[in-house]
Amino acid sequence: MPQTEQYDVIILGAGAAGLMAALTTGQRGQKVLVVDHADKAGKKILISGGGRCNFTNIHTTPERFLSSNRHFMKSALSRYTPQDFLQMVQAHGIAWHEKTLGQLFCDGSAREILAMLLDECNRGGVKFALGQGITRVSHDGKYTVHFGGRQAQAPALVVATGGPSIPKMGASGFAFDLARQFGLKVVEPRPALVPFTLGPDEIMFRNLSGVATDVIASLGKVSFREAALFTHKGLSGPAILQISSYWRPGQTIHLNFLPDLPPDWLIERKKDAPRKGLKSALAAHLPERLATALAERIGLATALGITPDKRLHDISAHLAKWPFTPTGTEGFAKAEVTVGGVSTDGLSSRTMEAKQQPGLYFIGESVDVTGWLGGYNFQWAWASGFAAAEAITSA
Ligand code: FDA
Repeated sequence: MPQTEQYDVIILGAGAAGLMAALTTGQRGQKVLVVDHADKAGKKILISGGGRCNFTNIHTTPERFLSSNRHFMKSALSRYTPQDFLQMVQAHGIAWHEKTLGQLFCDGSAREILAMLLDECNRGGVKFALGQGITRVSHDGKYTVHFGGRQAQAPALVVATGGPSIPKMGASGFAFDLARQFGLKVVEPRPALVPFTLGPDEIMFRNLSGVATDVIASLGKVSFREAALFTHKGLSGPAILQISSYWRPGQTIHLNFLPDLPPDWLIERKKDAPRKGLKSALAAHLPERLATALAERIGLATALGITPDKRLHDISAHLAKWPFTPTGTEGFAKAEVTVGGVSTDGLSSRTMEAKQQPGLYFIGESVDVTGWLGGYNFQWAWASGFAAAEAITSA
């Protein structure tokens, strides 16, 4: 029987949230162990933002998050803000820029963000046990974690093992199993920020693979104006990924292909260029291949000049609200994040601690809080990790 190692805090998961909790508790004098089954820390950080890590969003507000409890994220987000994280980035001399819509990226590489977090952990004397599968977690006054032939014990256990998106990178539903083990509920996890698949009826759109265009994608009251990208399986691009987080099977999304044009632009066009057909009118505003596909699907055989205004009005309206009913999504294999997760009902929004299980904390993507695309998910990871660390160190 190996000797039980004693710590103040054990953190499961060396991703964004776990590293933030580790560096904060470590620097506040706690003896901290981080256990991860991956052989390296922060793998998702390294691939994030196309390798440049969109590490926060300066427009972070609670409205840009999905959760069964839309108030839950408020407390943590208000106590660790994008400016707080930016301060750390700047203190490490990491060059950054705002790309668009408040999204902050490294000028260089995501490796700099990971190196910064590991350096801060090092300053806090944090110990790592990487490449170690966790075989068992038990609680008997303290939490005992069994991993790789070792066992470690602490009064505080922070679960930061994320959600099941991208299993080939080591993602798992471990946090949900552990939550259930300790009597917490789990809101059904669904893939989010994920491309849609389209069925045989939409084959013409699948043939547009690689074509991107600016759209407004909408589903009920939610809408996003960004690029949509046609893929060989269906639809992707930022606008589509954003709307996918809200989508349920069977629902129809709508795309406005011409968000900058007035409702009756085709009637205007009829006056200016009566001999033109629909395809050339569309090609003035859209990529050629998309203009062709849309014109073919609409099937207007006549020139604009001899087409009744009513018909042109209806076509414009259709182009502004083009329906797609995805057959599904590309699933957890391609989802950037998970919607759902450990239910906020059983957690304190101030500390992330389980209400009925003192000393047990859930942070980051494992919790039923999911951000929009654009740096919001990392901001949640930093803020929830900090909230748990603050609670542990002030207990
Ligand atoms: P995270 O998944 O980062 O870490 C969990 C850790 O737990 C991992 O190290 C994993 O190995 C470990 N683990 C899992 N199961 C375990 C088990 N059973 N035993 C032991 N260890 C286990 N967000 C954003 O804000 N800006 C961006 O630019 C991007 N870009 C991006 C690109 C891609 C391709 C993806 C897939 C995701 C993003 N995201 C993003 C989302 C972001 O990466 C994500 O929200 C955070 O990494 C979540 O941080 P966590 O620490 O909660 O989990």
